[in-house]
Amino acid sequence: MTRLPIIIDTDPGIDDAVAILLVLASPEFDLLGLTVVSGNVPLEDTLRNTLQVCELAGRTDVPVFAGCDRPLLRQPVRGLFSGREGLGGVVLPPPRLAPQPVHAVDFLVKSLLEAGRTGEKITLCALGPLTNVAVALAHSPGIAAGIERIVLMGGGFRELGNRSIAAEFNILVDPHAASIVYEAGIPITMLPLDLTHQALATPKRVERLRAIDNPVAQVVADILTIWDRKDIDRFGELGGPLHDPLVFDYLLAPDRYSGRAARVWIEHTSELTMGQTVADWWGKTGEKPNAEVLTKVDAQGFFDLLGERLARYPLPA
Ligand code: BDR
Ligand code: CA
Repeated sequence: MTRLPIIIDTDPGIDDAVAILLVLASPEFDLLGLTVVSGNVPLEDTLRNTLQVCELAGRTDVPVFAGCDRPLLRQPVRGLFSGREGLGGVVLPPPRLAPQPVHAVDFLVKSLLEAGRTGEKITLCALGPLTNVAVALAHSPGIAAGIERIVLMGGGFRELGNRSIAAEFNILVDPHAASIVYEAGIPITMLPLDLTHQALATPKRVERLRAIDNPVAQVVADILTIWDRKDIDRFGELGGPLHDPLVFDYLLAPDRYSGRAARVWIEHTSELTMGQTVADWWGKTGEKPNAEVLTKVDAQGFFDLLGERLARYPLPA
């Protein structure tokens, strides 16, 4: 099997944790490293959570790198639903694993420059604020040649905002970084709120995951129970939207998704609409699209795949 080389940039975060567990049980991916960023919670917490999740999966072979501990210019904004330490109050054993003694940005730069040289390009999967990616691009613009594409969870169009009235959390936290990434000329596939709000972890779906008899599935069922916003007015039923794992479901089963190309900009000057993603859907500006925007998913297909992958734990040695 040809495995897809990926790096995950992440800020666990409940849905980040589920995304990582999905990837670690999916041999289709060659996970080269996890680069961690400040986001849902401060860096020390996102880092610890990442290490704990790798240990929970029994995947202590995956290198984890600590990255930027604050947005480029703005004060940090934290996730509303992750709890104080990031996993909504679910407590995992303290990690024995240590992060690599290399900054995440240095790892990104080195790996992506090397990928550009060899032609074995890497898919960069971004699940949090884009600070690490932007700093790597500012440091070494040549890394673009080593990136197959960036697949990111972020932004919103009709579903405008979840952390402010106008903006989705990942883009809102570091809009300047997001703007650097969107203007870098790298192909972007984006999974905005319009898409991720279709994938609700309803009580019924969580129940199915809970029926999987292994400790990893139990942790996922626990944290997804906490993830429920009980926001029936907005989502039409119970259950929190499971944003980040969709990035990997898309890479595994792209036929489950549809979308369209657009030129997308990031608002980073207006305080009222800070972090809003603005798209030219109809070619009004004459600018070429810089992103494939995914807008529709077969959500049940995704939850079936998630259950199938979680049932693989414990992974064979
Ligand atoms: C995004 O924000 C974070 O809270 C989640 O982890 C996800 O990446 C959704 O807006
Ligand atoms: Ca995230």
